[in-house]
Amino acid sequence: MKNKKRLIVANWKMNPQTTDEAKKIFSSIKKGIGITKNSEVCICPPYPFIYPLYKLKFPKNLFLGAQNVSSYEKGAFTGDVSISMLNDLGVKYVIVGHSERRANGESNEIIKKKIEIAFLNNIIPILCIGEKERDHDASYLDFIRSQIKECLNGIEKKYLLGMIVAYEPVWAIGKSYKESMNPTDIHEMTLIIKKIGGELFGKDIGDSFKILYGGSVEIENAPSILEYGNIDGFLVGHASLDPVQFARIIKNADVKR
Ligand code: PGA
Repeated sequence: MKNKKRLIVANWKMNPQTTDEAKKIFSSIKKGIGITKNSEVCICPPYPFIYPLYKLKFPKNLFLGAQNVSSYEKGAFTGDVSISMLNDLGVKYVIVGHSERRANGESNEIIKKKIEIAFLNNIIPILCIGEKERDHDASYLDFIRSQIKECLNGIEKKYLLGMIVAYEPVWAIGKSYKESMNPTDIHEMTLIIKKIGGELFGKDIGDSFKILYGGSVEIENAPSILEYGNIDGFLVGHASLDPVQFARIIKNADVKR
């Protein structure tokens, strides 16, 4: 992997409720993390807070991301936000295919369009995948395979190299660290995802995938997932709204690899 830095992404979802609060959380995170050497941090606030945060000062290890983007470039798509609009606001990353969007009917086909549109506009997509439940005959692995295949098939190889894939088992999202996935299973999944990527697109591509883990990452389980989970970073939901906890997770992740 070329860029060995870890990537820690904050997914604020539909929180907080005011611009003032968003700025406060952002500033506390910035203060708390200081200068990280071995990791990059990306904050994905709700759309209305992107501009007010963009106007604040950013250290060079901290970036803005968006939680979603339209699969269309422009036009009559009420409620959608285009990739050019995000570009205009200095957004570096965009989350695509989050399970909470998929639950609203977003298909792999639409997610693929979003990935293409992001790459073409120099914004880095973060593709979320993950099974809803684990069954004994392991058919969840076929599910993961089809998510990877249908979301990435046909995307240019130059873009697929270093593709960021956030593995988020849906059953582990929004709980506590006690119900999160254990590091050994996370390790296994990172290997499986890279292997599937290799089988579908070539070993060089599969091996280059940057795998984030998401699903109830808290300060209690972050260190062991970092140590044993074989991951390149985290996608953190609720714990990223707690600046003290989030900064501690980042400090933990900021070790040389
Ligand atoms: P969580 O959310 O950390 O609150 O589980 C993660 C996510 O949904 O991205």
